[in-house]
Amino acid sequence: MAKAKPFIKWVGGKSQLIEQLETRLPADFDKKEDITYIEPFVGGGAMLFHMLQAHKNIKHAVINDINPDLITCYKTVRDQPNELIRSLAFIQEDYYSVKAEEAKKAYYLRMRDRFNAKPVDPIENTTLFFFLNRTCFNGLYRVNKAGKFNVPCGRYERPLICDADTIHADSQLLQHATILTGDFEQTFEYINGNTFFYFDPPYRPLSNTSSFNDYAKESFNDAAQIRLKHFCDRLQTVKIPFMLSNSDCFGKNGTDRFFDDLYKDYNIDRVWASRSVNANGTKRGKLTEILVRNYALANCTRTNLPNINNQLKLAL
Ligand SMILES: C[S@@+](CC[C@H](N)C(=O)[O-])C[C@H]1O[C@@H](n2cnc3c(N)ncnc32)[C@H](O)[C@@H]1O
Repeated sequence: MAKAKPFIKWVGGKSQLIEQLETRLPADFDKKEDITYIEPFVGGGAMLFHMLQAHKNIKHAVINDINPDLITCYKTVRDQPNELIRSLAFIQEDYYSVKAEEAKKAYYLRMRDRFNAKPVDPIENTTLFFFLNRTCFNGLYRVNKAGKFNVPCGRYERPLICDADTIHADSQLLQHATILTGDFEQTFEYINGNTFFYFDPPYRPLSNTSSFNDYAKESFNDAAQIRLKHFCDRLQTVKIPFMLSNSDCFGKNGTDRFFDDLYKDYNIDRVWASRSVNANGTKRGKLTEILVRNYALANCTRTNLPNINNQLKLAL
């Protein structure tokens, strides 16, 4: 069986950070039984698929995202993998048969219009979502204020639109998942015994122009970041462990203490991440991200954490 992994490309995907996140799980994570794993901002689900394969003591996963089309994809992958694969294989062949650049572009725009007309059939909606994700510029997902997907066409010769092995592997792992659409706060009521939360909310922009967080027509502004911190406080009150990642405003601009102040009562450390959101290649590169936990690092058995936090203090 192929390895389960994100079935779509998603901005902010955590694939490159998995190892660093793994080393910062609670020390007793693997000793606990029947864990409920909750990811309120699931996006592409890199951490979700990693956790479900690496930690067999997770008995139940609860995933959530505000993007209804993305959530339809998760449900379709879980419930109708074979029908989805047939439909993706069809659109892939159809698209490959179009050779001229202009005709390819016209094909893309027709599919984008069909997607924006909001097809109610989950197979059609998911097929178009996958198609756009694989053929649009940089695999971006961006909508305008009216909620219409508006990313232009990318330039790919024969993009892989139908990855049957990944869909089957993901479908199997999702069989025990509860899949929700909406605001992150609704996940609180899914706490059940040994529960662990991992949050990867939209990044707080590092400058007015640099960062991308238009995943949904509702923007995730500073007030939402503060609301999320209050949600973390509720978890702390009921003693539920959580880990949260976000952009490192302080690492970028030594006067911006937004997260350091907001999460001052929790453990904050920093990890290296390479971002690839910026379309301008010269602006891509290594940045730090913050990781917030409500359990002490001293509880962590994984002792060989790269100590970039000290390096950063020196650099700042
Ligand atoms: C940084 S992405 C998550 C990346 C993901 N962890 C991955 O590995 O690909 C943030 C996600 O939060 C979702 N989102 C934005 N506002 C939200 C809200 N209020 N509640 C829940 N999800 C939200 C976006 O649709 C987006 O998928």
